[in-house]
Amino acid sequence: MDRPAWAPPGVDLERPSTARIYDYMLGGLHNFAVDRQMAEQVLAVGPQIRLAAHANRGFLRRAVEFLAGTGIRQFLDLGSGIPTVGNVHEAAHHVAPDAKVVYVDVDPVAVAHSLAIVEGDERVTVVRADIRDPETILKDPRVTGALDFTQPVAVLIVAVLHFVPDSDDPAGIVAKLRDAIVPGSYIAISQVATFPYELSPEEQAVADRYTRANAVALRTREQIATFFDGLELVEPGLVDPAKWRADGDITEMVPSFAGVGRKP
Ligand SMILES: C[S@@+](CC[C@H](N)C(=O)[O-])C[C@H]1O[C@@H](n2cnc3c(N)ncnc32)[C@H](O)[C@@H]1O
Repeated sequence: MDRPAWAPPGVDLERPSTARIYDYMLGGLHNFAVDRQMAEQVLAVGPQIRLAAHANRGFLRRAVEFLAGTGIRQFLDLGSGIPTVGNVHEAAHHVAPDAKVVYVDVDPVAVAHSLAIVEGDERVTVVRADIRDPETILKDPRVTGALDFTQPVAVLIVAVLHFVPDSDDPAGIVAKLRDAIVPGSYIAISQVATFPYELSPEEQAVADRYTRANAVALRTREQIATFFDGLELVEPGLVDPAKWRADGDITEMVPSFAGVGRKP
């Protein structure tokens, strides 16, 4: 396979990546044949999954606009993904042109594209790191150089925690981030939930293949709610991403929950 010029060296073109599959679902161009193939297999049994990706992206944008509207001027976006239309820094700067944004992702393609898009913008920083190691992120000089942790910060963990298995203690990761931010800070989270109905054998086969390939951990609403321990959920609470401060259709094909919690 020809290696696109934008593909960072060392990226395996034969292994699908969640960042690139998501980019493809959103209509982005930074994905490989192997990503498109897996995305199409998933979309063949669940075409609404594309809508769910857009619904999640809509939640992210509305959450950032809401947070900037409450006065937040610092955003730490963990698992930020491949930049596509409606990026966090665009949404934040729309409301607050002086807002600082730090993008963090483990995927080299996501990081390379984020760097290219924000080049020359001193308000935006891009770091390659793993959310499973929050201590390293919180003491990274690029992060501490960009964000003042004595002032409120919004931590965004949107459509990421389902890639963190229970064995990596996602609640513990969120708790460490919560402990590092001052009162008046916020954490926004969305995550794919367990299916509330039985899948057809065909749907189950694709779900199994995708969740195995990407180590996806589906969680119940109650489990997702525990990520907000120690935080006060802002209205409308933990709801379908399409319903968070909007009137979208619920994404029942891909049950998900989204919420924004304030550290009291
Ligand atoms: C579905 S995308 C979500 C992108 C963006 N947050 C959004 O909601 O539009 C998930 C992102 O999480 C990233 N990711 C997965 N596991 C991660 C980890 N352990 N540390 C950091 N990023 C991770 C993937 O590379 C991918 O870019």
